[in-house]
Amino acid sequence: MEFQISRVYQNLLIIVALLICFSVIFYTYYQPTVSCLKWHTISGSNSCSDICINALKMPNQTEMVNNTCVVNITSIRNLLMQKEAVTQTDPDTILLIWMWPFRAKFDLGICRSLYNIHGCRLTDDRSQFKSAHGVLFHHGEIRENDMPTLQRPPFQKWIWMNMESPSNSAPHSTLNNLFNLTATYRQDSDIMVPYGQISEKTGGSTTYENPHKNKLVCWIVSNWNSNHKRLQYYENLKQHISIETYGRSFSRPVSKKDYSDLVSSCKFYLSFENSIHKDYITEKLYNPLKFGTVPVVLGPPRKNYEEFIPGNAFIHVDDFSSPKELAEHLKLLDQNESLYRQYFTWREHFVASTTYFGPEHACWACDHIRRYKKYRVVKDLNSWYWS
Ligand SMILES: *[C@@H]1O[C@H](CO)[C@@H](O)[C@H](O)[C@H]1NC(C)=O
Ligand SMILES: *[C@@H]1O[C@H](CO)[C@@H](O)[C@H](O)[C@H]1NC(C)=O
Ligand SMILES: *[C@@H]1O[C@H](CO)[C@@H](O)[C@H](O)[C@H]1NC(C)=O
Ligand SMILES: *[C@@H]1O[C@H](CO)[C@@H](O)[C@H](O)[C@H]1NC(C)=O
Ligand SMILES: *[C@@H]1O[C@H](CO)[C@@H](O)[C@H](O)[C@H]1NC(C)=O
Repeated sequence: MEFQISRVYQNLLIIVALLICFSVIFYTYYQPTVSCLKWHTISGSNSCSDICINALKMPNQTEMVNNTCVVNITSIRNLLMQKEAVTQTDPDTILLIWMWPFRAKFDLGICRSLYNIHGCRLTDDRSQFKSAHGVLFHHGEIRENDMPTLQRPPFQKWIWMNMESPSNSAPHSTLNNLFNLTATYRQDSDIMVPYGQISEKTGGSTTYENPHKNKLVCWIVSNWNSNHKRLQYYENLKQHISIETYGRSFSRPVSKKDYSDLVSSCKFYLSFENSIHKDYITEKLYNPLKFGTVPVVLGPPRKNYEEFIPGNAFIHVDDFSSPKELAEHLKLLDQNESLYRQYFTWREHFVASTTYFGPEHACWACDHIRRYKKYRVVKDLNSWYWS
């Protein structure tokens, strides 16, 4: 026993000795080239903490002399003060929200707190019209008799916001030659705001645990219209596989509170869009992605979906020649856990999120106006959107 302890002690001593030797050799021969291990300051005190950190961001203020970084503190201090002065005199961009989208107010400080966008000031105070750099109009609330009547300042941009598909909203005689920017889900908008997104995971583990499932296929639908393509598909599909249906149409409403638990308890969710348009890919897709369910999509072609989400994250009805064939595939996946799990591999590196309607449009629009000063007019908005 004693013998073993002293052996351990001996080994430890050898390791420590080796470490010391290595460090001595390292510091003797290692010559820093770019990174500064030694600092020398001139025109200031010898303490160099935050000033030197700033010097790292201003390589042109750092001089290498005999492997020592030489910085002139006075000169860096002056530059920092100049920078601060610039950001203080640069006025905020003002965005006037003419009508609250969906009549739902949100916190006017949200651009900074939620999206880290600085230099934007949102307001709903119409008396600031003359100084506003942008005015946001939500299509659903546009009324001909409730438009600004004052003369429009030359620098001011009007933004047209719409999240509904052309099938779900109507053209309006007042829309042409009025707006400067569009903010919709369409990729060809000036400010594109999708219904959700897949983004890189920042930190955290790459393993993903599937939520527990006790239902096979689920569908929540509140807008029942027999003209919708999705309805015909559903009628056919349910003859081949059992579908748990919820929502107003089935007199089984789902509360906000229960929504995520319900969706995540299903192996598959029918993400059937109510109308089919390029880029019109809604929360019906992003919610199941967020809550750990495999979406079965009906909407624009697969390649349009793949512009926004990984191809192995979803099943497209067009991947199958008939609803019967789709049903067979879903049953196969239900039986084979390893095949089913492949629809979740993207989660090792990505996460899904949904859009916060209104705030996202207002903040990105304001940020856009702040960055881009280009003149622009949307001439024929009606035919751009509705034809
Ligand atoms: C040095 O870099 C700083 C920060 O990037 C910049 O503000 C400054 O104008 C530069 N000065 C010169 C002389 O290039
Ligand atoms: C750099 O090192 C050399 C050799 O030690 C010395 O002669 C020279 O004066 C040093 N230069 C400065 C600016 O310290
Ligand atoms: C340090 O910078 C200040 C301000 O730019 C300048 O007046 C001064 O001469 C500099 N000092 C040295 C030693 O280069
Ligand atoms: C915005 O559009 C209107 C007409 O639609 C135009 O009169 C105005 O000059 C445009 N302004 C800017 C800054 O692009
Ligand atoms: C699941 O599918 C894979 C790939 O087709 C196959 O290799 C595996 O044997 C299947 N497992 C079961 C339990 O059927």
